[in-house]
Amino acid sequence: MSGERPSKLAMPGRQSEGMAVSTTPETPSRVANHALLGVSAPSSAATTGPALALADWFVAHQRDLPWRAPAPGKRLDPPVREKAASYPEADPSRRDLPLPAGSGPVPRRDPYRTWISEIMLQQTQVSTVVDYFRRWMKRFPDVSALAAAAEQDVLEAWAGLGYYSRARNVLATARKVVGDHGGRFPWRREDLLELKGIGEYTAGAIASLSFNLPEPILDGNLVRVFSRLYGLDFLPDSKEGKAAYWELARTWVLAGDPAIVNEGLMELGALICAPRKPDCENCPLRLHCTAFATGSQEGFPPVRSRKDSEEVSGFAVAAFRAGTDGEEALVYTPRKGERLAGLLTFPLFQVPGLLALKVAWREAVPGLEEAVLRPRAKTITHSITHHRYRLGVVEAIMPDLGTSEGLPDGYAWMPSRELDRLLVSSLPRKIWRALR
Ligand code: ADE
Repeated sequence: MSGERPSKLAMPGRQSEGMAVSTTPETPSRVANHALLGVSAPSSAATTGPALALADWFVAHQRDLPWRAPAPGKRLDPPVREKAASYPEADPSRRDLPLPAGSGPVPRRDPYRTWISEIMLQQTQVSTVVDYFRRWMKRFPDVSALAAAAEQDVLEAWAGLGYYSRARNVLATARKVVGDHGGRFPWRREDLLELKGIGEYTAGAIASLSFNLPEPILDGNLVRVFSRLYGLDFLPDSKEGKAAYWELARTWVLAGDPAIVNEGLMELGALICAPRKPDCENCPLRLHCTAFATGSQEGFPPVRSRKDSEEVSGFAVAAFRAGTDGEEALVYTPRKGERLAGLLTFPLFQVPGLLALKVAWREAVPGLEEAVLRPRAKTITHSITHHRYRLGVVEAIMPDLGTSEGLPDGYAWMPSRELDRLLVSSLPRKIWRALR
């Protein structure tokens, strides 16, 4: 980084769906692509036995998670099997039939709850999501309640989950579902994919888990299960790997009740087929499993030698002044394309040392160049996605704290007592904690 122009921390945009493996799954086909798999690929018929074993296991052992239960006061819909027979899309051989106007599958599980849980689960552990999900459902019990909420309230409910673009997308999508779909969640994959923040994985999850449609999903859990089951050594994020694993996901979802197959595979990956020390003794698929047969479970899926996450080092600058109603702090809202875009933070500078910081500070906030910059708290280290932050915390001590004229775009003085509420991203919250 040294030698580069001192810069405001620029945040590369990210649209990924977390651990979900997102390459477009092709039109569902029941003929597995043997050439791609490079192995004797299973057909859906040959997968029926393992899918039944999986279903029995899942029904007996699944975790009691709030998004798997109906909303309070709502009854469970009729059993999946009955429901599956009641609309054409559930029958793969009738997928081309148009649905009668105004009709559509009756959801077996509230798609709003499936959607919110799946988005929360993209980057966050199940144990953490459970509480967030419960609180969220109390605050925004349905898609209309969410669509009517203010963005600040939604960000506040999301605070701590990170990746705030997810919260903004969720709000935009709720408004679209209410505005364009009369408050009814779409169920067709292609319609779901039109919604912000919904990629291949989430579209498949909503269509299968809520509407029991035979739509495939693929995430890290399913990749691991498939890789071990069939002894596939494709790198999960390689082009061939994605194609092969999506093909298997399509094969499996056609081999049983879509909702149970998909969630069962996820659950198996989470509870039994763990990345390390899988519990093969209790696995319903062990007799079908190549990796179990050869004792090579931990070799699958293969891992790419890990690229280190990028270190971002620099400084956070904390400037305070006496306002008319108590102390105020200088905060900055990064623009699109900068790191933490749209999320209030102390100004951050990616520079190699204090001298460079002084230059960058003067350039960034010309009205406050007289400030003396003095190291304050100990270095903050913090990891978000692919970045490891190492930030010195510096206080800007100003001879004249009265001026607020001519602050550049994005900068503002905010009452310090409001910062607990206003700072939603984990990094500025950590900096604020270190300053108190
Ligand atoms: N991870 C992603 N989706 C999940 C689900 N529906 N249940 C449990 N873990 C999950």
